[in-house]
Amino acid sequence: MQLGSLVASLCALSSTVLADADFASVRRRLRKDMSGRKTDPAEKYFHIGVETWLMHGSLLGWWWNKQIMPWDSDIDVQVMEPSMYYLAAYYNMSVFHYKTPRIPEGRDYLLEINPHYHNREQTDLLNAIDARWIDTVTGLFIDITTARYNLSHPAGAGMLSCKDGHEYRDTYLLPLHDTKFEGAPVKIPYRFQDMLESEYGIDALTDKDFHDHTFDDDSMEWVPHMNIQAQERLNHGY
Ligand SMILES: *[C@@H]1O[C@H](CO)[C@@H](O)[C@H](O)[C@H]1NC(C)=O
Ligand SMILES: *[C@@H]1O[C@H](CO)[C@@H](O)[C@H](O)[C@H]1NC(C)=O
Repeated sequence: MQLGSLVASLCALSSTVLADADFASVRRRLRKDMSGRKTDPAEKYFHIGVETWLMHGSLLGWWWNKQIMPWDSDIDVQVMEPSMYYLAAYYNMSVFHYKTPRIPEGRDYLLEINPHYHNREQTDLLNAIDARWIDTVTGLFIDITTARYNLSHPAGAGMLSCKDGHEYRDTYLLPLHDTKFEGAPVKIPYRFQDMLESEYGIDALTDKDFHDHTFDDDSMEWVPHMNIQAQERLNHGY
């Protein structure tokens, strides 16, 4: 799936920008070949860098079968506020070239940062999405939103707010949990089940009929009802 290779490219971005800032390359419309680049030492991950985790529909897709749900048209990830400032300062409109197993010849991905990223208020609804990671061939993109510490939250310290109105305590998020999505290494919130339940309700985690699809436990896939009906017609010979 096209969106799948987009996930792989985003993972590559995360490990790329973990490196110490390479000031010679900090400029607009930078185009770099990022494939074949060595990954930073694992311990470096915890000092600097852009940690990103799955949220919303992508986290729900992960819950079911570690894949994008067939009816989802985008991918949602989040970063912390300092990471968004870092990306805005050094990587706006940067084009990164990545080779992934699915696209061995490589492809260009553009990172675009919304100029309203520094507006923290939930009233800025039109700009809830702070950045996009865009596949320049297909136009498919990953939405990047920001989790911001909310110092005036009535529930006290440690509350994170997002411009789309979602709020959660940082102990639900951290430490991030390593897993795979569409075959690529990704991170998810520590208490992913609680996060999903509060966003979608408990039924979304158990209900196998959704969006004209049924979840098939054997194949671990969402099967469109259209296909199920066609199969039944075949089985019954009409
Ligand atoms: C990123 O670049 C685009 C295109 O130049 C510009 O419209 C936008 O305001 C920039 N974003 C930031 C955060 O500077
Ligand atoms: C902080 O939390 C309060 C209560 O939920 C909310 O009204 C406010 O918009 C939040 N502030 C920010 C900057 O997100």
